[in-house]
Amino acid sequence: MNQINRRNWLRTAGLSTGMLVLGNTSAFGFEPLKEKFDSDRLVMLNANENPFSPSFRIQQKISDNFDLICRYPFRIEDELIEAIAAKEGVPKNYVVITGGSTEGLKAAGLIFGRDGGEIIAADPTYQSLLTYAESHGSKIQRVPLNDALEHDLEAMADRINKKTGLIFICNPNNPSGTIIDANTMLDFCKSHDDKAVIFSDEAYYDYITEPEYPSMIELVKEGRNIIVSKTFSKVYGLAGLRVGYLIAKPEIATQLKKSVMANTNVLAIKAAQEALKDDDFYKYSIAKNMEAKLFLYKSFDELDLRYVPSHSNFVFFESGRPITQLQEQMKKEQILIGRPFPPLQDWARISTGKMEHMKLFVQALKKVMSD
Ligand SMILES: Cc1ncc(COP(=O)(O)O)c(C=O)c1O
Repeated sequence: MNQINRRNWLRTAGLSTGMLVLGNTSAFGFEPLKEKFDSDRLVMLNANENPFSPSFRIQQKISDNFDLICRYPFRIEDELIEAIAAKEGVPKNYVVITGGSTEGLKAAGLIFGRDGGEIIAADPTYQSLLTYAESHGSKIQRVPLNDALEHDLEAMADRINKKTGLIFICNPNNPSGTIIDANTMLDFCKSHDDKAVIFSDEAYYDYITEPEYPSMIELVKEGRNIIVSKTFSKVYGLAGLRVGYLIAKPEIATQLKKSVMANTNVLAIKAAQEALKDDDFYKYSIAKNMEAKLFLYKSFDELDLRYVPSHSNFVFFESGRPITQLQEQMKKEQILIGRPFPPLQDWARISTGKMEHMKLFVQALKKVMSD
């Protein structure tokens, strides 16, 4: 595409220079573009998405690479693998790119849960790996979270047996937003990775507020039986493009690569590479998420509702009424909130949104709770 055509195209696509000028007004050097979604009507606080569209820089990168769509992604995947390997400090053969981290979760669940293999996981936790493995014949050992809604690693260790193929740990946990004490997690992994593969789902790792909190990639580097998943869907705001990755030692990474089915796509690869360089958007995402969370905490305090301080982009709170009822009531107010997380039936998970949406949520919650 030559310069003039590109300019025309950008104009018709709504990415006009006017928006570029607007971009320079933000404290972060840009202002994310207005989404063309349905969110003017419905406030979507139900899927832990980043509420901000990618920065202009990322959108530009995507549009610059439209002409590559006729090519298969394997031609350029290596560039992203290299960038991820550099970021995580591992050799390139430790990196497995996947179509969102969901694809990696499912591949691992399939490999290590098959042939009668059991999987141990907290309850409630993120289900993707578990339900997929279950539907392919694996047995899931679900271990309740403790009273603080944290992983009960001792109880999980007690469930390890000869059939255990994988231990799934979502850290920070979805839906509770809790993290495991760093040393406890490191000790657990070091003590049990000889009995089963340990899967550390770190989709929300970037939101952890505890300084120097270790990724379990540190243990992968020691050659341990650990898989770590990360995603571009959360802090990087690329959920719709479907790109994530797994980090594991080569023996495991090779197995995982064989089970990945869809992989990612050309535009996602280009966007992810740019996202890794786009510090402004990264910092903006983290700062806006914190602002929204602090507002939610304050509002829950005012309403005298119990909640769990969260290391993620959502907050779990006890509404005291059945979640299905609350969901319905909030939907009538045009607000979508998280699904049921049995057995915690009167708890609700709220994803962070733009501040105007957070205010609408609290306004509606006050109304609904006074019914
Ligand atoms: C804990 C956790 N892991 C993984 C995912 C999957 O995200 P994606 O497939 O978009 O990378 C999610 C999505 O909400 C999640 O909450």
